[in-house]
Amino acid sequence: MASEEEGQWVLMATGRSPTNIAVIKYWGKRDEALILPVNDSISVTLDPDHLSATTTVAVSPSFSADRMWLNGKEISLSGGRFQSCLREIRKRARDFEDEKKGIKIKKEDWEKLHVHIASYNNFPTAAGLASSAAGFACLVFTLGKLMNVKEDYGELSSIARQGSGSACRSIYGGFVKWCMGKKDDGSDSIAVQLADEAHWKDLVIIIAVVSSKQKETSSTSGMRDSVETSPLLQYRAQTVVPSRVLKMEEAIKNHDFELFAKLTCADSNQFHAVCLDTSPPIFYMNDTSHRIIGLVEKWNHSEGCPQVAYTFDAGPNAVLIAWDRKTAVLLLQKLLYYFPPQDKDLSSYLVGDKSILSDAGLHSIEDVEALPAPPEMKMHDQKFKGDVSYFICSRLGAGPKAVADESQALLDSVTGIPK
Ligand code: DP6
Repeated sequence: MASEEEGQWVLMATGRSPTNIAVIKYWGKRDEALILPVNDSISVTLDPDHLSATTTVAVSPSFSADRMWLNGKEISLSGGRFQSCLREIRKRARDFEDEKKGIKIKKEDWEKLHVHIASYNNFPTAAGLASSAAGFACLVFTLGKLMNVKEDYGELSSIARQGSGSACRSIYGGFVKWCMGKKDDGSDSIAVQLADEAHWKDLVIIIAVVSSKQKETSSTSGMRDSVETSPLLQYRAQTVVPSRVLKMEEAIKNHDFELFAKLTCADSNQFHAVCLDTSPPIFYMNDTSHRIIGLVEKWNHSEGCPQVAYTFDAGPNAVLIAWDRKTAVLLLQKLLYYFPPQDKDLSSYLVGDKSILSDAGLHSIEDVEALPAPPEMKMHDQKFKGDVSYFICSRLGAGPKAVADESQALLDSVTGIPK
């Protein structure tokens, strides 16, 4: 991990962290600087093979400044959130020694060593899919590895939280709860794992990346406006979420999909209602999002119990959670009926776990064109080609992991500059 050249060395670590999607939403801070929320939230971690950030961090006596590259482009590290994460990790750094390579770093020396950071997302940042959650979780996790920080995941989550609130939940796989905490210093505002990814293996996640030209309001400024102006947010945080969180924990524990889906959909809808209750109102969902909700609601209703849950974050993309593979196949067929691909290439229209396409009998565009209209829908004739950019098929996944294979490092082991 380190290489020596005329007395100089570069010490590196690489890690990979997943993204997560909240089923009980975090929306609103009680402390902006420390990123302390007004309510607990619960999320599912997505498979890092499909949606994750990979980060390489390095230190060397030859580095003259802290520097960072995101998806190949150098970005500034001067922002308060990066600085908080760097400061908190450096505070917890411990002695490190690699005798073979002749590297010895004392606890107090870490403060003097500059870091280089390179990070890359395996999904488009512009797609509006919680890239900051994966990114900050990965930064904190990997810096922790490099600086030999004690592996206390609760503490790592509270540091990641200071990068971006939702990032604290990406420190674990499976089902995760971010406990809002009570203390002013935020030390009890940490994430805990409710169950790992093996607990509920049947769930299949399909994400519709919805086309949108609109510049969206960032979560940070959106939730600030909601806290200042929305009376519904107060009611939600104080009255609705506390009991919903308890019910959601029960639903997860008991694999109760009906309850899980009802709570997930209701919470997404209430979050968007809070956005509408904000002055000026914030619109994250668009017509396509609403159409997808209509499709799922009608289907769930016609079956008499929920088959699929939907949830939307601060953007128009739909995250759909199907209770098993068979349901996911039916869901995909219905989605592709209404939102067929614009061009002939089906395999780039569905990414992630592509094997679902063959399970759905969809091998070519002709197969998509031959799909029957969903019987539960009244309007069959209208289709919305082009309204979805592409779909991702995924599942629940594991938490952050160190990447041992040096060939996957994003920084050069001699220069410490992106490869
Ligand atoms: C709608 O974590 O992106 O996705 O803490 O200001 O960085 P900051 O906000 P961020 O907000 C996420 C909001 C959400 C809901 C959620 O993930 O719980």
